[in-house]
Amino acid sequence: MGSSPRKEIHMLLLSGKEVAAAVREEVRDATVEFTTRTGRKPCLAVVLVGDDPASATYVASKGKACGEVGFDHKDFRLVEQTEENELLGLIHRLNEDSTVDGILVQLPLPPHLQEKSIIHAIRPDKDVDGLHPANVGRLLLGDPQFVACTPAGIMRILDHYHIDTVGRHAVIVGRSNIVGKPIASLLMQKGRDATVTICHSRTKNLAEQTKQADLLIAAIGKPEAIGSDMVKPGVVVIDVGINRVPDETRKRGYRIVGDVDYDAVAPLSSAITPVPGGIGPMTIAMLMENTLRAAQIHG
Ligand SMILES: NC(=O)c1ccc[n+]([C@@H]2O[C@H](COP(=O)([O-])OP(=O)(O)OC[C@H]3O[C@@H](n4cnc5c(N)ncnc54)[C@H](OP(=O)(O)O)[C@@H]3O)[C@@H](O)[C@H]2O)c1
Repeated sequence: MGSSPRKEIHMLLLSGKEVAAAVREEVRDATVEFTTRTGRKPCLAVVLVGDDPASATYVASKGKACGEVGFDHKDFRLVEQTEENELLGLIHRLNEDSTVDGILVQLPLPPHLQEKSIIHAIRPDKDVDGLHPANVGRLLLGDPQFVACTPAGIMRILDHYHIDTVGRHAVIVGRSNIVGKPIASLLMQKGRDATVTICHSRTKNLAEQTKQADLLIAAIGKPEAIGSDMVKPGVVVIDVGINRVPDETRKRGYRIVGDVDYDAVAPLSSAITPVPGGIGPMTIAMLMENTLRAAQIHG
């Protein structure tokens, strides 16, 4: 019997859920050591303005995660109509409060508040979301202090599964400040050594670009926008998207899908993150790691 070449690709499921659990355990252990040594717990302050239900859910998960790893956390809920000066006043107080290690302002803010001036007001050594220009600049220069949590989570998943990026072509779809730009910065650094292409809504012939990818990172915010005709066989796929699509078979009336058409793309890929259970859980785990790092800096 002649042996025909094997065509199927063995796909590795990149489980953010599992890697996040491992990160949380590491943080928990290091927190025991920190608390024993210093007599205090790391502390995260989370600020929520308004009552957007999705933001309220994220804030609740962050508080729960703090409890699980042994941190203190302080929640500040401000009404939708909060004036910029009032919010800035709170941030200045948290900057000066020596019991607070990390400050996270839940985004998006209501439209009358300028995200830029709020983020710029956070002390860089408490900016555990990694969005302050000082932290973004340090990342670009290859001397990171706090890296935005979602891109940090992507790198951790790649490391956990020993996915080498050296000399690989990484194509990133999306150029936001919280995902696309920082992940591009990380992948191009010496040591990571990927060749990086960044795509966005004005990119011409997106599929031509994405088909070049050895590593494809989708951070678009459009449900299942990346189909099987947009990838090459063997690609590693990181799907950052979290999109709600109506689904009457679900009790809550919707389901969560990524920016990648998982069923179509997974059979072609050598590794892929699912949605949910991929990058989502990593983001909160990396926030815990950043907060611990802030506490260690503050001593
Ligand atoms: N897993 C997590 O923890 C996590 C964290 C953050 C975000 N997310 C999810 O990730 C997704 C992206 O979030 P984000 O905050 O980065 O979104 P964003 O700020 O809205 O940015 C989306 C990016 O995608 C680009 N884009 C939009 N439509 C496109 C198209 N048809 N073709 C090519 N590019 C297109 C936009 O281009 P332009 O710049 O030209 O407008 C933009 O750069 C969302 O689903 C979000 O919910 C998940």
